[in-house]
Amino acid sequence: MRGSVTVAIDGPAGSGKSTLSRALATRLGLHRLDTGAMYRSVAWAVLQQGIDADDREAVAEVARDLDIEVDDRVVADGTDITEAIRGPEVSATVSAVAANPAVRAVMVERQRRWVDAHGGGVVEGRDIGSVVLPDADVKLFLTASPEVRAARRSEEGAEAVARRDRLDSTRTASPLEVPEGARVIDTGAQSVDQIVEEVVAWL
Ligand code: DC
Repeated sequence: MRGSVTVAIDGPAGSGKSTLSRALATRLGLHRLDTGAMYRSVAWAVLQQGIDADDREAVAEVARDLDIEVDDRVVADGTDITEAIRGPEVSATVSAVAANPAVRAVMVERQRRWVDAHGGGVVEGRDIGSVVLPDADVKLFLTASPEVRAARRSEEGAEAVARRDRLDSTRTASPLEVPEGARVIDTGAQSVDQIVEEVVAWL
């Protein structure tokens, strides 16, 4: 029943979610969804439209209206924003957008529909095991030392990464936390292949 397998991956910035989710999706023949790219797309549209990221109602409206396709490329309302959403402006704005409960409600609903439409999948983010897919077949919470994480996100800068993690972990709406039943993995201590085989054995 490969098709119905769900894997939830959470963890802070630079903890290795993208690398592991790609490797696991390939190994298991599943689709992968990067939910961070969805929040980044909303932040991009908010910046594009010159909206104040703290204006909750206006930002929620942007989220509701924005068509987002996340695959190898990220396309919002027909514009390819794959590179743009990794830029410093979006990285600095995305935590405020993601702290908005109305934005989260829209994103969570779309993520669950994506899983239903794809018959399972590997989904990575901050609230996947806790909110989006609490009944996932395997829940992983990735960690790595602050030094390792900062090195992986050197283009963003250690301070900016630390600020984003602080905001993502202390917000009221679905803060980043270890989900109930999650297995905690230090990605600085094992190779990707080792972790993949370990996770496959847990399924
Ligand atoms: O995974 P990432 O660094 O691209 O995520 C960008 C931001 O989006 C992150 O700082 C927090 C937010 N996010 C979230 O709140 N919930 C998710 N499921 C995924 C990302």
